[in-house]
Amino acid sequence: MQSKNYIVQISDTHLFGDKNKKINGANSYQNLKAVMNNIAALPFKPELIVVTGDLSQDCTFESYQHLANLLNRAGTRYTLMPGNHDDVDVINRVFDFNWVKDNVDYSVEINGWFLYMLDTSVYPEEKGFLSDKQLEQFNTSLKKNQNKPTIVFMHHHPVLVNSSWIDRSTLQDSHKYLKIVNSNSQIKAVMFGHIHQVFETKIDNVIYCSAPSSCYQVLPRTEMFTIEKLTPGYRIIEVNNENIDTSVCWVSS
Ligand SMILES: [Fe+2]
Ligand SMILES: [Fe+2]
Repeated sequence: MQSKNYIVQISDTHLFGDKNKKINGANSYQNLKAVMNNIAALPFKPELIVVTGDLSQDCTFESYQHLANLLNRAGTRYTLMPGNHDDVDVINRVFDFNWVKDNVDYSVEINGWFLYMLDTSVYPEEKGFLSDKQLEQFNTSLKKNQNKPTIVFMHHHPVLVNSSWIDRSTLQDSHKYLKIVNSNSQIKAVMFGHIHQVFETKIDNVIYCSAPSSCYQVLPRTEMFTIEKLTPGYRIIEVNNENIDTSVCWVSS
């Protein structure tokens, strides 16, 4: 029997080149550092850290370097994807991904689990997009790996979260994406960021949930953007055979 494996999802780090700079009252660098220290102190070592976008707030080379330094220090395999605040060209100068739009999506396997990363960003648009080519690649890849329990990671939310200010910048034409998810029953969960709040629901046996921001949170289910707290957070995903369990960790900054 396979043992438990852990994946950590960090999201919306919103780093600046200047480590002292704050966004909405939160020091994004110090808060991410607190998150990384908390992960280092977990009683288990995660197999993978996934950072689901809005990595930088100012798109500077230095901001991405700060992220790379903190992730490298953890000594855990990691992967990341852009959010609406990110410039892929600058990410490519810091990390070894060498992404080209439409070719940015990729997958990894963790002990029998298939993890698919989707780039929903089109810089500097706030909304999320997936091209027909991306959707086709996604579907083809899922069909080839039909026997593997699967988790999809992306920045934008593909289902509405009842916060009208952020639901305006959801994944566009999400019905095309959801049709693929619904026709591939091996998909157990869809994990996203972008909304800076914890959202969890289950639709047709698929878990849809967000990771909180590592930087600051906003009040859920509101008309207007309203800061809730400055406490950083992240998500832990436990996979064990075909089962998945997930929870949120809050970190004192
Ligand atoms: Fe964000
Ligand atoms: Fe975002």
